[in-house]
Parts: sequence; C-alpha cells; structure tokens
Amino acid sequence: MPPKFDLKAFADLSVVVGTGITIYYLINRLLTDVESGPIGRSKESKDKESLQWSRLVARNPELANVPLNAYEKSILASVVTPEEISVSFSDIGGLDGIITDLHESVIFPLTMPEVYSNTPLLQAPSGVLLYGPPGCGKTMLAKALARESGANFISIRMSSIMDKWYGESNKIVDAIFSLANKLQPCIVFIDEIDSFLRERSQSDHEVTATLKAEFMTLWDGLLGNGRVMVIGATNRLHDIDDAFLRRLPKRFLVAKPDLEQRKRILEVLLRDTEVDAANFDLDAIAQSARGMSGSDLKELCREAALNAAKEYIRQKRQLMGSVSGASTATQAQLQSDLGLKLRPLRTSDFAIVGRDAGLFVSQSSTD
Ligand SMILES: Nc1ncnc2c1ncn2[C@@H]1O[C@H](COP(=O)(O)OP(=O)(O)O)[C@@H](O)[C@H]1O
Ligand SMILES: [Mg+2]
Repeated sequence: MPPKFDLKAFADLSVVVGTGITIYYLINRLLTDVESGPIGRSKESKDKESLQWSRLVARNPELANVPLNAYEKSILASVVTPEEISVSFSDIGGLDGIITDLHESVIFPLTMPEVYSNTPLLQAPSGVLLYGPPGCGKTMLAKALARESGANFISIRMSSIMDKWYGESNKIVDAIFSLANKLQPCIVFIDEIDSFLRERSQSDHEVTATLKAEFMTLWDGLLGNGRVMVIGATNRLHDIDDAFLRRLPKRFLVAKPDLEQRKRILEVLLRDTEVDAANFDLDAIAQSARGMSGSDLKELCREAALNAAKEYIRQKRQLMGSVSGASTATQAQLQSDLGLKLRPLRTSDFAIVGRDAGLFVSQSSTD
C-alpha cells in the first residue's frame, strides 16, 4: 500500500512555517522602526522626504550643503514647492479685495525684500491671519500666495502636531522655524492655529504653555525678515490668545460669500464646463444658494454635472442593451447617429433652484 498523504501533519507544518515567517517580518519591521531615529519614521515617509529634499535642492543648489536635523527632515514631507501648487488667484472667486491687500502684506515682502530692509519705516508683517467659516477659501488663498510669490510652502495642521508629536512638539515647532529659514523665501501655513493658541486658561496644560512661549520666541526672531512669513488660519478667531493676535496684525476675514461673490465663485467653478445658454440662469442659481460657502458651491456644481451625466448614462445603457450583439464599431456608429452625447448643464440640474434654500442659510449669511 502506498504511504498515505497525512493532511493533518501538512496543515500543522504550514501553520508552524507561516507563524515563523510572520514573526520574522514583525521583528524585522520593529528593528527598522527603531533604527529610524528619535521620531521613528517609516520607510515610505523617508522616501517622500528625500524626494522632496532633492526637489528643493534642484530649485536652490545652495541647499545641497545645508545640514538638516532629524526633526527638520520629518517636516520635509509637509513642504511643497511653488511649482507643485496648482491653485492660483484666478481659481479663487469673489475675494479680489483680499487678494489685492495680500499682495502688499505677503507677496511684496517675499519677492522684494530689499524694499523692506532698506526702508526702516516699512516693516514686513511677521504674520497674516485668515479667519472665517470653513470652506470659504482660506487654504486656497494661502496656497495661491505661495505659488504667486515663488515661495516654498510648509503646511502644518496644528492639531496633528499636538497629537502626533506630543512630548516632542516643541522640537517640531523649533524645526518648523529653522527649516523655514533655510528654505526662504518660505510661507509657513498653520491651519487650525487656534488649537494651541487658545486663551491661556487654568486648565491649560503645562506642555502647551511652554510650547506657546517657544513659538512666540521663534516668531519674534522672524520680525522684519519678510522672507519667512507665517500665515495662520482659523474659524475661531475669539479662541486665539491676545499675545498671538498682536503678532498677527494683518487679519483678513474670509466670510461666507454674498450674492455677487457667489456668482463669481460659480463662474470660476464652471469656467471649463459647457452650459446650455438658453436654459442657464447664473443669477437664479446664485440667489438660491444663499448661505452656501465656496465648498458648498463646489459640491452643488459637482452634483449638477452628475445630474446631466446620469441622463447620458441611462440613455447609453438602453442603447447598449438594445444592440448588445453588435460590434463596437456599429454601436459607436449608432450612438453618433442618435446624437447621444453629454449635454450641457441647465439651471434645473442645480438641485437647490426652486427649492427652499433656507436649508442652507446660516446666521453669518450677508444677504
Ligand atoms: N472663493 C472661492 N472660490 C473658488 N472656490 C472656492 C472658494 N472658496 C472655497 N472654494 C472651494 O472650496 C474648497 C475648500 O476651500 P478651502 O480653501 O479649503 O476652505 P477653508 O480653508 O476656508 O476651510 C476649495 O478647494 C474650493 O474648491
Ligand atoms: Mg482650510
């Protein structure tokens, strides 16, 4: 009788081998993490950092000899060169007044530092604060500023520093400023700046208090040097510490758009989309969108485009169903014979028109 294949022994063996391999990889992984330094970075983030560093060096070869410490390196992944930024002022609707003022406060100091260093009366502001409800263009403005002024852009979300680097957060804050200095001209964009700048209170954690002090010292070190600019963004202006507000003398309210601004935003959002001129009423859409933010308007346009597309999809599926046996060429011929194509947008695609727009009206609505 031939020896019987013992299924159970085989299963046991595979479990043992499998576990062995898993343990090997786990240990290997742990060891590489430990090696990655004081703030344990993964291989992927290291790759991203070195890629970003080579981009920065390509823009400014002098950087090649500038050493970076481990904390500065860990911020490299949050650095963006102006060439990588796709948002420009022409993508931002209805904020022309603010954009003009930002030229004076941010772009000129970054691009013409000689004017500010040779004229004692003119001192570049060390920071600019953008405040207002979410989704109205603060982040867009900050990015467009970096792009238009050819500055490197370090984007930091304060809450993530507080969570991710807890205990080491002051080293990271140090590194943000020292890296920004090395990469100047540079914009440091601090989103949710309120999350650690809140009014000092009884409950204020000791770590947070030291961090604030550290931040202010570093910030003061920048005074007059317009080549590193801090742009803060918040939707809770009143939560920000007085000492910080003093350092952010230039403040811009980026409010919910009024009627005219909504029209401008819709024009920008729809500029590459075909509309059905006879059945399209921009004013009516902007009127009905009372209370909506820029990002609400974007979603509205996206849904409208989807509504138009759904009609096409339905017709096309019907057509395909009826000629399922035919060749692709015949199907395409039939489609063009029937004039089946995506149609331009109409007012009725915008779901809010004619509906009770009150749904979107918020207390900050201005019209
Ligand atoms: N003024 C605007 N013009 C054009 N698009 C806007 C405008 N405001 C907001 N949006 C759209 O909403 C999105 C979110 O805006 P964002 O700048 O991130 O808002 P905030 O930072 O104020 O919360 C943007 O990516 C853009 O698509
Ligand atoms: Mg934002």
